[in-house]
Amino acid sequence: MLLTSRSYAEYRAMFDLADEDLTGVTVDCAAGGSSFAAKAAGDGARAIAMDPLYAQGTKAVADRLPADLARCQEMFRAERRRFVWDWYGSPDRHEEMRRAAASEFLADLRRHPGRYVAAGLPRLPLADASADLVLCSHLLFTWARDHDRDWHRRAILELCRVSRREVRIFPLVHMGHGEPVAFLDALRADIEAATGAHSECPTVPYEFQRGANRMLRIYTTAERSSPG
Ligand SMILES: C[S@@+](CC[C@H](N)C(=O)[O-])C[C@H]1O[C@@H](n2cnc3c(N)ncnc32)[C@H](O)[C@@H]1O
Repeated sequence: MLLTSRSYAEYRAMFDLADEDLTGVTVDCAAGGSSFAAKAAGDGARAIAMDPLYAQGTKAVADRLPADLARCQEMFRAERRRFVWDWYGSPDRHEEMRRAAASEFLADLRRHPGRYVAAGLPRLPLADASADLVLCSHLLFTWARDHDRDWHRRAILELCRVSRREVRIFPLVHMGHGEPVAFLDALRADIEAATGAHSECPTVPYEFQRGANRMLRIYTTAERSSPG
């Protein structure tokens, strides 16, 4: 899996984030090289980035980031017809944003290493209900060919366990051609039954991978039962 660097602006759009959504503790799970935590902190939010890759250390992450970025850009340009460029305006603008995000991420990782925690689903080293909002982009559903429904169930229950208010997951389709994930609705029902949470799949003001324009939003404030 390549280390990708989505920008704060992309996160705001993918998760349809309003300023008031970022007033508490926000966790970016599977954060990779994204600049969300760095920029959100600059806006006064308390953000934590989590990714198992951080266990490799700052130098290893910094060393691989340019090559991963270049491979992603190569793929986007080679397959440009598969993507919707409206939000970015052009492939050049897309690349510019990703490069800027990678620089912001790396600078912040060096300056504030404590903000970056080496951890992976389905187990996060956080206390129950210790975050207000948990975000997860381009891991769940995206990689549903590698992770089955039961893994998704355990991962989402874990995200719900640590969030006292909301979990948002984007996108809801497979990587590549963006086919829908067959078990999405059944999994939502399962999560709601296990946690007492309520969920919905609203459209967001962002689409890059064709058909990837909805997030899963889980309101964890509903009466909880113990996730099992
Ligand atoms: C495609 S990247 C997405 C990065 C970032 N969220 C973004 O949108 O640019 C997927 C990330 O998931 C991380 N990852 C892989 N397995 C994971 C797991 N079990 N739990 C959390 N993150 C994981 C990878 O290290 C990688 O950085």
